[in-house]
Amino acid sequence: MITRKLGESVTWLAAVDWERKLFDELIPLPEGTSYNSYVVRGGGKTALVDTSDPSFTAPWLDELDKAGVKSLDYVVANHAEQDHSGSLPAVLARFPASRLVTTPKGKDMLPDLLDLPADRIVTVGDGETLALGGKTLKFIHFPWVHWPETMLTFLEEERILFPCDLFGSHLATGAARAEDDPRWMEAERRYYAEIMMPFRKMIAGGLSKVRALNPALIAPSHGPAIGNPASIMDAYADWTSDRVENRAVIAYVSMHDSTRLMVRHLEGALSSRGVRVDVFRLAGGDIGKLAALLIDAATVVIGTPTVLGGAHPAAAYAAMLANLIRPKARFAAVVGSFGWGGKAAEQLVGLMPALKVEVAGTVMAKGLPREKDFAALDALAATIAEKHKGL
Ligand code: FEO
Repeated sequence: MITRKLGESVTWLAAVDWERKLFDELIPLPEGTSYNSYVVRGGGKTALVDTSDPSFTAPWLDELDKAGVKSLDYVVANHAEQDHSGSLPAVLARFPASRLVTTPKGKDMLPDLLDLPADRIVTVGDGETLALGGKTLKFIHFPWVHWPETMLTFLEEERILFPCDLFGSHLATGAARAEDDPRWMEAERRYYAEIMMPFRKMIAGGLSKVRALNPALIAPSHGPAIGNPASIMDAYADWTSDRVENRAVIAYVSMHDSTRLMVRHLEGALSSRGVRVDVFRLAGGDIGKLAALLIDAATVVIGTPTVLGGAHPAAAYAAMLANLIRPKARFAAVVGSFGWGGKAAEQLVGLMPALKVEVAGTVMAKGLPREKDFAALDALAATIAEKHKGL
């Protein structure tokens, strides 16, 4: 646990999880993560903004003690997911007079997720404020960052924004400010791609509400506090825009080298036509890195051998993942190989219905790729390069 002052009335409790390797048993955490909560002390009332992951409940409660929190009037739940709400039952039990503050949708969800008493919950509307005595919390409804109940909390007098997951980063760090850790912006890119990208339209639509607050500091519930709010708001504005880059990401798996040879040829053919290429090997690969590569690539290519008549399961997984995180790619292609037949390419395209992509082409070689297959890859590269000219 790391506890710091943040502004004159805020105490920041960071449960830094240096060891965690996976989130949701899905998302790799190469840099660990943290679960941040914030105590805001007014002249008459004290509020806690978000809690901690259940794995940290005991040390986190000890840290509240050490921070001198003898009473709590309000516990704000910006988000119902357990990495922030998981210590709510314990904190509500420790402070029996406290009230849990959340959105109406949060009130609908929290009692089910955590078996909380509904009569302890008060709901707040969009733009509603809560006076703590010389300090004011304003609540901004911002659904779908990344669950339906999410809101942001803003400490008006000190212009500190507590957006919970939004603008967060999975980064265990001893740095007090994001700007002091050179890994931070890359961690933000990964985090956005893995968690927020499926909701980019909603985020793009809501960013103006955040800018209108003119925060001086952003204190998310994962990763360090952001001393230059414009930097992350500008990055989000770009990532959530419809702008794509003249780039192709090739994610591939190869069993006996045929598909790898095709991928290497396509890489060169695209590069020589002015398209930047990133090649990602799916076997043993870090899918967070793949997700980050996909943020603004115009084309996604999947390379697969044929296994028992269909795509290699690793390629199918990549297609399903892309379908879930919904990058803004405009074009897709499948390349690969087969021994005696199969429908691998059709299967992969069918696994990505949520991607509104135009299929630029498929090239499947029988066995080792030969001259006609390389010619087909050259033609595919020419097609992709031509389509990119219209970006
Ligand atoms: Fe960090 Fe959606 O929880």
